[in-house]
Amino acid sequence: MQEQIKQIEKVALEELQNCNELKLLDELRVKYLGKKGELTALLKMMGGLSKEERPIIGSMVNKVRDELEEIISSKTEILRKEEIAKKLEAESIDVTLPSSKIKRGSKHPINRVIEEVEDLFVSMGYDVVSGPELETDEYCFERLNLPKGHPARDMQDSFYITTEYLLRTQTSAVQARAMMANEEKSPIRIIVPGKTYRREDDATHSHQFNQVEGLVIDEGITFADLKGTLEIFMKHMLGEDTKLRFRPSYFPFTEPSYEVDVSCFKCMGKGCNLCKQTGWIELLGSGMVHPNVLKMNGYDPKKYTGFAFGTGLDRLAMFKYGITDMRLLYTNDVRFLSQFDRKDI
Ligand code: DAH
Repeated sequence: MQEQIKQIEKVALEELQNCNELKLLDELRVKYLGKKGELTALLKMMGGLSKEERPIIGSMVNKVRDELEEIISSKTEILRKEEIAKKLEAESIDVTLPSSKIKRGSKHPINRVIEEVEDLFVSMGYDVVSGPELETDEYCFERLNLPKGHPARDMQDSFYITTEYLLRTQTSAVQARAMMANEEKSPIRIIVPGKTYRREDDATHSHQFNQVEGLVIDEGITFADLKGTLEIFMKHMLGEDTKLRFRPSYFPFTEPSYEVDVSCFKCMGKGCNLCKQTGWIELLGSGMVHPNVLKMNGYDPKKYTGFAFGTGLDRLAMFKYGITDMRLLYTNDVRFLSQFDRKDI
């Protein structure tokens, strides 16, 4: 039996020496050390041995077992490391190779409009500023002359997160932020492009839409400045022939307030289905900054006056590019978006 053990050890050591694969190594482990393995079989035969032989054979078998176990585990470790190294080498990336070409995308129509508006106003000396979309009641309403319970808060349906926080319903919220942030209370000339949120959803309204707000505060600002600025703005966006019409309206943060219509650029004011046969399209809200708003945000209304306006960029993009359904602007359909990959619009 001792001979048999030595023979098993010899063969096992040879086989292990020649083994260079994890799978094979595992097979050898089963062959020698497994429940039905050769060494286990020998241990099972020990019952038939004499009292003297039993401990000798038992310790021999255990010694060989330990020896093989040790070799198998260290070899497993080595082979595993080699395998990982091989894999890493095979999967290494040559970062100097040229990348595969991806078709160039196109600028989103809303971004095209935002950039055009920004370029125009920056050329007139305005700063472009932004503010948080999750806004406080204070900046969205109170500092704009809409105290708690004011009925004009219901001019739109707002998404409240808590009683204090809501998704801003208008970029006008940034007016108050800009006035408060200006510690010297010096003149302000800003536009604020940004997303706004209202509970609306149909072909011409979306729960999320884009606005651009304008605010100018300085000494001696009059309605003539507002009128001239909006004329430049609209003619630049919709064509030199565009005419403006100011209709008296109500906004709590301006006094007087106006809705501004532009002459229909489809029919040139003659009347068509786009302008519902009126020749005019309503596009902006505007007015002279309410003295309360100036006062509440640290500006002396005796020294300063100002004007403000706001318009929907989505609507502007729709009119400019003849888009009939606002929802197309938000569905990321490349068939729609790729139409704006042009230099002539
Ligand atoms: N914030 C208004 C709206 O969302 C539009 C507006 C009206 C903005 C008058 C102004 C303004 O700055 O003075 O409907």
